[in-house]
Amino acid sequence: MKVTVTGATGFIGGHVVRALLERGDEVIATGRSAARIAKVLGAGVQAVEWDAVQGPPPAEAVDGVDGIVNLAGENVAKGRWSRKKKNRIRDSRIIGTRHLVQGIAAAEHKPKVLVQGSAIGFYGDRQHQAIHETSPPANDFLGQVCVDWEAEAAKARALDVRVAMARTGIVLGKEDGAYPRLSRPFRMFLGAPIGAGRRWMSWIHIDDEVGILLHLLDTDACDGAYNLTAPNPSPNAEFSYTLASVLKRPCIAIAGLPLPFVLPLALGEFAKVLLASQRILPQRTVASGYEFKYPELRPALENLR
Ligand SMILES: NC(=O)c1ccc[n+]([C@@H]2O[C@H](COP(=O)([O-])OP(=O)(O)OC[C@H]3O[C@@H](n4cnc5c(N)ncnc54)[C@H](OP(=O)(O)O)[C@@H]3O)[C@@H](O)[C@H]2O)c1
Repeated sequence: MKVTVTGATGFIGGHVVRALLERGDEVIATGRSAARIAKVLGAGVQAVEWDAVQGPPPAEAVDGVDGIVNLAGENVAKGRWSRKKKNRIRDSRIIGTRHLVQGIAAAEHKPKVLVQGSAIGFYGDRQHQAIHETSPPANDFLGQVCVDWEAEAAKARALDVRVAMARTGIVLGKEDGAYPRLSRPFRMFLGAPIGAGRRWMSWIHIDDEVGILLHLLDTDACDGAYNLTAPNPSPNAEFSYTLASVLKRPCIAIAGLPLPFVLPLALGEFAKVLLASQRILPQRTVASGYEFKYPELRPALENLR
């Protein structure tokens, strides 16, 4: 299979590229700098420079490929959410995906499938409610970004392209994403639940994140939205105590650490995302036949230790 991965230099994109190469696929990797693609991914991929905000991708990234995994987007977790940052979060996803679909429309040989990045931010803060793929979107900033982002991707269906939306949770990988940040205070003997620890965390091990993205790429019957979260989400207290135990560190039992008050000062509106409670279940993902390698938290964290 010949596959284009956008956002290939990122945390998830890099893992997807390596998994595709390992199984013998041909990979085109896009990013804003060819030098960065070469530095991050080495020589095994064809590098194509594309700034998604500026216009459609070069034809070589879409014409004649079998599938596209679209993961490009301004990082939401790094830096304060200023107005400019929020514009970059929106534009890199919505205008970027619009440009990608324009590129597909112009291609002589169109891809058969678009696996579209999205996020559980789609659903917003839902307290203890169990959320499935059919649950409605949130009316907040990230919820609306996800709705518009998916709507741009869905336009590819009119071009006879199968479109699967990958609504991704908190991805746990050794070297990047949430895990190094979550585990750091525990390694320093300072780990504790956030607040009362009752917020649900919908995590997924990076191996399952990549496994599901490839499953969506390969499985002709997969169309529409899929939650990329482990089938057993954890309340924050359970997550914190399990992480502490796996790392052989204490979990400080101070009820109500003042983080819910301090974080908004440091992170702006992104604090709301970190403090949201999301109990997301991968109902359609499981029904589509995907078998999780890490359905339970402890083995997932032990693998990352
Ligand atoms: N990691 C998570 O826990 C998580 C959770 C939910 C959803 N997601 C979603 O999954 C996707 C991938 O996440 P990630 O963690 O791998 O993100 P990441 O590490 O921040 O990588 C983002 C990628 O997007 C590219 N990019 C950014 N702005 C771009 C632009 N204007 N034009 C073209 N490329 C651009 C970057 O490439 P260059 O800088 O090299 O151009 C980079 O390769 C994102 O859309 C994210 O919202 C991730």
